[in-house]
Amino acid sequence: MKPTVTPCAPQFSSGPCAKRPGWGPAALADAALGRSHRSKIGKSKLKEVIDRTRALLGVPDDYRIGIVPASDTGAFEMAMWSMLGARGVDLLAWESFGSGWVTDVVKQLKLEDVRVLEADYGQIADLSAADPKRDTVFTFNGTTSGVRVPNGDWIADDREGLTLCDATSAVFAMDLPWDKLDVTTYSWQKVLGGEGAHGMLILSPRAVERLESYAPAWPMPKIFRLTKGGKLIEGIFKGETINTPSMLAVEDVLDALKWAEGIGGLKGMIARSEANLAAVSAWVEKSDWAGFLAADPAVRSSTSICISASDPWFDGLSEDDQRAAMKQIDSLLEAEGVAFDINGYRDAPAGLRLWGGATVEASDMEALLPWLDWAYGQVKQARSQAA
Ligand SMILES: Cc1ncc(COP(=O)(O)O)c(C=O)c1O
Repeated sequence: MKPTVTPCAPQFSSGPCAKRPGWGPAALADAALGRSHRSKIGKSKLKEVIDRTRALLGVPDDYRIGIVPASDTGAFEMAMWSMLGARGVDLLAWESFGSGWVTDVVKQLKLEDVRVLEADYGQIADLSAADPKRDTVFTFNGTTSGVRVPNGDWIADDREGLTLCDATSAVFAMDLPWDKLDVTTYSWQKVLGGEGAHGMLILSPRAVERLESYAPAWPMPKIFRLTKGGKLIEGIFKGETINTPSMLAVEDVLDALKWAEGIGGLKGMIARSEANLAAVSAWVEKSDWAGFLAADPAVRSSTSICISASDPWFDGLSEDDQRAAMKQIDSLLEAEGVAFDINGYRDAPAGLRLWGGATVEASDMEALLPWLDWAYGQVKQARSQAA
């Protein structure tokens, strides 16, 4: 039966993600447009982003928070380019983005003392194998497989190496163990429902120590430069950005941060994301075809919720046909105006991916689920008849 209730917001994309409920262009009315980002008002807005971020996330006072270019990728690559190479590196990867960082380190930076600790889609790498004497590079939440690290307990308090954590699809939806994270990066376009373009870079005192005591052998473009004359450029962490930011995106993230404060801060944000996962879990439990790509609930993401399919019909399809079937479901639901952009990531096994970050209402997630059953049934029938 075709469902009659549709989600109010069909935006289930894993990035850019849904804007906060009730968002409209009026939220940007106060943007400092046409003003220099170095003017008093420009700098104060950038600083306000940093201050509100620190308060919401509970970032320790002695950690630096900076706004940097090129979204999460820019923030993470600037950290890797600036800090890696001082000691051996353990690279943990279990999906596409983690693998991208491996490619950066092995093929671009060409570091030699590297260990790659990998796992397949749906699994997590052996976290206990990370050596505290070495730097550790990892993704807190693997957006393309829906697998997250369960906590920071596997990171040693007395580590000698630094931890570099890509937290872009985790922050504001999961508790981040700041004492275990030396470098943390993310962008505004995920759980906050903000815009792309700018990255956030959070540094522990030990990360700053590395920056001030180690100079990599390779050239450093201006856009990556965090130090001058061997000293941290402190201005970056007060809102003096390296190059020109979008003041429209800045206004938008301020709106998102204020919304987050109003719904109970980090706790409220986490609860909203967990409610989305709970809705999908209750549906999966009763489903005769849908399951989670992440089999272990301890590492199952509440933001990038990855659904796999299995029944005698689906299991009998070739991989290409499985992918085609999922694409058809995605297109059908888009045409119905029910869900946009829910096909699994191109490198991941055939499946669907539902964004369950804090800007998605659990009532919308609940409304979507019967549509998945309907679309699956439609596609199965059509393809079975054609075969
Ligand atoms: C884990 C992870 N890392 C990096 C990125 C890249 O983020 P951005 O496009 O904001 O640079 C993404 C985007 O989905 C991601 O999920």
